[in-house]
Amino acid sequence: MIIALNNKCNLTKDTFLAYQEDLAKITTTDHLILCPSFTNLALFNLTNVSLGAQNTSIDDQGAHTGEIAAQQLASFTVKYCIVGHSERRTTQHETNEDIAAKISQLFKNDITPILCVGESLEQRQNKSYPEIIKTEIIEATKSLTPPEKERLIIAYEPIWSIGTGLIPQNSEIMEVLTIIKNILPQSKILYGGSANDENIDTLKECPLIDGYLLGGLSLKIDNLQKFLKKLTH
Ligand code: 13P
Repeated sequence: MIIALNNKCNLTKDTFLAYQEDLAKITTTDHLILCPSFTNLALFNLTNVSLGAQNTSIDDQGAHTGEIAAQQLASFTVKYCIVGHSERRTTQHETNEDIAAKISQLFKNDITPILCVGESLEQRQNKSYPEIIKTEIIEATKSLTPPEKERLIIAYEPIWSIGTGLIPQNSEIMEVLTIIKNILPQSKILYGGSANDENIDTLKECPLIDGYLLGGLSLKIDNLQKFLKKLTH
């Protein structure tokens, strides 16, 4: 299983160094990917974890103040990068077109994108979510080659589940994951949204889930260790 840890906008230099020491002690056979803030990428020194980023620029290096280009990420041994997180789609108004450009920058630099898709509560209630999710995937991947499509990782994160403690029923997750598999049969699919050491026993019964994208739990190492133990037992 792939377990991607999205630290979001958390951990200062000192608290990240202490966190990393704790993360080094985690035992698991699952593949851990740590996505810290940009400022902490250069401090990364773990051998049991792969390095990811939370975002990248749509452009190459150059006159783009405040941006971080995929070439720069690659120079810090970043192997994975989250794109299209709902927090960025909402607050930074990222479009599917922007996200497609970021994915292409990442592949140019041999970084595997983790594309986040998911519906709002309103879109779930008015039943527009299958179309929303299909469009998010098709528009972000339309210029990719077949091998790139296979390598792309998708994270299904229902927006109403992120940080709320609410999780969809397994049947609801399965419905969406089946839609995704129909478009990208080879891609690995992660689930994200309030996944934790209490609900993992239920979530792990979902056969199409290839891993998890963890927000809040990524910062609680003891609970993360419990989560990983339950996942394999
Ligand atoms: P939580 O696990 O805190 O709900 O966050 C999920 C998420 O947004 C990961 O990208």
